[in-house]
Amino acid sequence: MTGLATYGGHVPVLLDQVIASLTPRDGDTMVDATFGGGGYSAGLLDAADCCVLGLDRDPDAVRRGQAQASRWGDRLSVVEGRFSTLEQTVNEQVGGQVDGVVFDLGVSSYQLDEAHRGFSFRHDGPLDMRMGADGKSAADAVNHLDEAELAGLIGRLGEERRARAVARAIVAARKEAPIARTLELAEIVRGVVRRSPDGIDPATRTFQALRLWVNDELGELEQLGASPFYVSAIDTEVAAVDDDVVPDAQINVEVVILGDHPELGADGRAIDFGVKAEDLERSLRNR
Ligand SMILES: C[S@@+](CC[C@H](N)C(=O)[O-])C[C@H]1O[C@@H](n2cnc3c(N)ncnc32)[C@H](O)[C@@H]1O
Repeated sequence: MTGLATYGGHVPVLLDQVIASLTPRDGDTMVDATFGGGGYSAGLLDAADCCVLGLDRDPDAVRRGQAQASRWGDRLSVVEGRFSTLEQTVNEQVGGQVDGVVFDLGVSSYQLDEAHRGFSFRHDGPLDMRMGADGKSAADAVNHLDEAELAGLIGRLGEERRARAVARAIVAARKEAPIARTLELAEIVRGVVRRSPDGIDPATRTFQALRLWVNDELGELEQLGASPFYVSAIDTEVAAVDDDVVPDAQINVEVVILGDHPELGADGRAIDFGVKAEDLERSLRNR
C-alpha cells in the first residue's frame, strides 16, 4: 500500500473487503465519507485510476488529507463535511454522480491517540471528544446534564449496566469541582465499575457513550438514511464498515454492499445497510 494509508502508520481494517465490494474502475468517482487518516481513499486510488472525494467532519483530518493530496495529482480532494449534509457536499464537489461510497464508522486512531482531542481514557487531556469544531463537549455533558439524563445516555449509548452508579459518582465528583480531564473521569468510572474478566477498561463504555452523544453519531446516521442521496443511490455501491459505532454485538456484519445487492430492501433504501440494517435501525431506535 502506498500514499496515505501508511501516513502515521494507520492501516485501515477491512481495506481488501472494501475494495472488493466497491470495485473501483478507471474513470470512476468514489466518495470516502469518513476520510480519517485516508487509508480507504489511498486503497481506492491505488486500485484504479479513479478520483476520490474524501469527506470528514473533523477539520484536523481534512487538513492532514489536503496536505497529502498532491501525491495523487488531481485525483484526490478532501473537504469538510458530514453525513447529514452529504448529498449537498457531493453535489457541490462532484455534481452528485458517484460510483461508490465507503463509510468507516467510529473514531479514528488519530482522534484516539491525540490526547488534546479528549477521546481517550488512556492519555490525559481535556474532556472534549468533539470530532467537529463546534457543539457541546464531553465536559459539558458530565458537568451540566442532570443525573437521570447522564444515567440514561450512559446506559443507552454505552450499554453500561452500572450507568446509574456511574452517573451518581459523576454528580458527586462535580460537586467538589468541575470534571475537566479525561483521566479524572476515567478514575471516577473505575471507582464504581469493576474491570471485566476480558480486561476491558471499565471506562470504555462510558467514554463511548459520551462520544456518541457529543457527536450525535446515531442522529447523523439517521439523517443520512433520510437523505434522497441514499434513496437514489440504488445504482451506487456503498460499503459500510462498522467497528464500534453501535456497540451491540448483534450488529455482526462488518461490510455491507448496497445497490443491487440481493438483500437490499424492495424499496431500495440504502440506509437499510442491507439486510443487517434492520438490526442496525432497530438498534438505533432503541438507544
Ligand atoms: C474510523 S475513522 C475513519 C478511518 C479511515 N477509514 C482511515 O483509513 O483512516 C472515522 C472518521 O469518520 C469521521 N466521522 C465520524 N462521523 C462523521 C460524520 N457524521 N460525518 C463525517 N465524518 C464523520 C471521524 O471524524 C473520523 O475521522
